[in-house]
Amino acid sequence: MEANAQRDADSQARDSQAKDRQDADGQANFDRVIKEDSRIEPKDWMPDAYRKTLLRQISQHAHSEIIGMQPEANWISRAPSLKRKAILMAKVQDEAGHGLYLYSAAETLGQSRDKMTADLIAGKARYSSIFNYPALTWADMGAIGWLVDGAAICNQVPLCRASYGPYGRAMVRVCKEESFHQRQGFEILLELAHGTPEQKQMAQDAVNRWYAPALMMFGPPDDDSPNSRQSMAWNIKRFSNDELRSRFVGMMVEQVRVLGLTLPDSEIRFNEDTKKWEHGPLDWNEFHEVLAGRGPCNAQRLERRREAHDDGAWVREAAAAYAAKQSLKTKEYAA
Ligand SMILES: [Fe+2]
Ligand SMILES: [Fe+2]
Repeated sequence: MEANAQRDADSQARDSQAKDRQDADGQANFDRVIKEDSRIEPKDWMPDAYRKTLLRQISQHAHSEIIGMQPEANWISRAPSLKRKAILMAKVQDEAGHGLYLYSAAETLGQSRDKMTADLIAGKARYSSIFNYPALTWADMGAIGWLVDGAAICNQVPLCRASYGPYGRAMVRVCKEESFHQRQGFEILLELAHGTPEQKQMAQDAVNRWYAPALMMFGPPDDDSPNSRQSMAWNIKRFSNDELRSRFVGMMVEQVRVLGLTLPDSEIRFNEDTKKWEHGPLDWNEFHEVLAGRGPCNAQRLERRREAHDDGAWVREAAAAYAAKQSLKTKEYAA
């Protein structure tokens, strides 16, 4: 008996030594890959904190794409022409695709899509605060495409070089589609801005409402963003929140002139000393309120997502039954 216990203890000690060695080798390889600005792939060893950070970021990103379909899907049936309807439908479908790539990327980190969806509909997961604002008029389709997808591009282009392979690769395709989204938004606003005075006013009103929430999409100011520094050290993030926000303001300031509209911020200026664009103060209190679930549409967005998930139960069941049938057939052929 005693000899057995001794053998077990010895084998446990050997296992734990082997694991320590593996971790040390894994960490050394991870450090080298990050230093070389190369890529970590799903089967590579990675620190737990790196996995956790990515899982949080990618799943939040996936949820944002899926919840982000709602404010625009709401306008598909009310688009002013068949052409506009077709374009908007394609755009909303793209967002569903982005969500799916991103859920797949997150799954490579060891979390199931079912679990991520369950967390979202239980109100436990976060998504971008911007999608908790209502889309009140047709011009909002323009402002969302131009400002919200525009901010998304600014944020996501550097993510194409993220150190985690599946995330970076998903971002390449996502960014191509986001460029189309931004252009379609810009074009809606351009047409309205050159329409009747009422249409121009509607476009201006939409820009006024979406401007500040779009700027807040880059996240809190750098001195209030505790995880940013580590994300940058891991080559997930390449630029700070404030840096990206400043770039975005610089882009929008040029484009709004072409639109013949204005940005609702009299404090925008180019700082010659820092060579950066600056903007007026943002209401971070509002940002935190919306993030905490107290924005204008949070409850509605989650409720709709829950309903859609329930409505889709039969599709998931049918797909699973079909897959089981197919795999049985394959086995029969093989036999
Ligand atoms: Fe998207
Ligand atoms: Fe988009």
